[in-house]
Amino acid sequence: MKLIDGKAVAAEIKKEIAEEVSQIIASGGKRPHLAAVLVGHDGGSETYVANKVRSCEEVGFQSTLIRYEEDVTEAELLACVNRLNDDPDIDGFIVQLPLPQHISEEKITEAIDYRKDVDGFHPVNVGRMSLGMPCFLSATPAGIVELFKRYKIETKGRHCVVLGRSNIVGKPVSVLMMQKGNPGDCTVTVCHSRTKNISEICLQADIIIAALGVPGFLKGDMVKEGAVVIDVGTTRLPSDKTKSGFRLAGDVLFDEVAPKCAWITPVPGGVGPMTIVSLLKNTLLAGKKEIYSQ
Ligand code: GUN
Repeated sequence: MKLIDGKAVAAEIKKEIAEEVSQIIASGGKRPHLAAVLVGHDGGSETYVANKVRSCEEVGFQSTLIRYEEDVTEAELLACVNRLNDDPDIDGFIVQLPLPQHISEEKITEAIDYRKDVDGFHPVNVGRMSLGMPCFLSATPAGIVELFKRYKIETKGRHCVVLGRSNIVGKPVSVLMMQKGNPGDCTVTVCHSRTKNISEICLQADIIIAALGVPGFLKGDMVKEGAVVIDVGTTRLPSDKTKSGFRLAGDVLFDEVAPKCAWITPVPGGVGPMTIVSLLKNTLLAGKKEIYSQ
């Protein structure tokens, strides 16, 4: 079994981005600027957004954090999105999800200018991704694909089973794994909460991407020898062993599954760090106006 070290790969890519930012600044260009909008005080969202802002600083980006209380109205949030859309200094921005019940995530996502949608959640970016056109790829699927690329793990012709059909991970990663090229060219099966015989399907998989959000869902007896397992789960469970009072639990029962794998990602330190790096890559592209010219 070999460990896919997302933390190390993410550090390497951050270095590459930081070097590129230095070159941009040295040649008189503009420092890329990411804004993040955070509503309320959900612990997970606070941590993710703080990491995103810190990572921006590490690579030399400018970052702006805009906070709203839980009771912000949809109209106020839409006005904020429109201000960011119109602000020429902001290259890209994200609105951290989930949003409170009284705000439509769909409406907010659609209101974001797709040319600044560095999360890759806008229907234009999702559609262009499905068509294999240049776009902002959503961060977690892009991070997973990057791991296959950097570790030179063969995907062509292999059976990839995706567990989960979320808009953020399951759906887009299934499209990326089946697209033409490398990584890609997989035969993809998507399983979800209504799928029958998940164990039998997983046992036929060369690659399993687990993105259900169910801690320890994938057990040792569901994985064939030599499989590649990517664990996207990041459920926060209470713990008295950590300073923060919680620990991150993956969807894979690591101790059972790892001995059977050719490659496996740990939680934490696997897909998580790659997600942030993908966001940084998109922000750099947004700053350079490389995908959309204006
Ligand atoms: N919530 C969970 N993951 C994400 C993400 O990648 N972007 C945003 N905006 N919200 C999230």
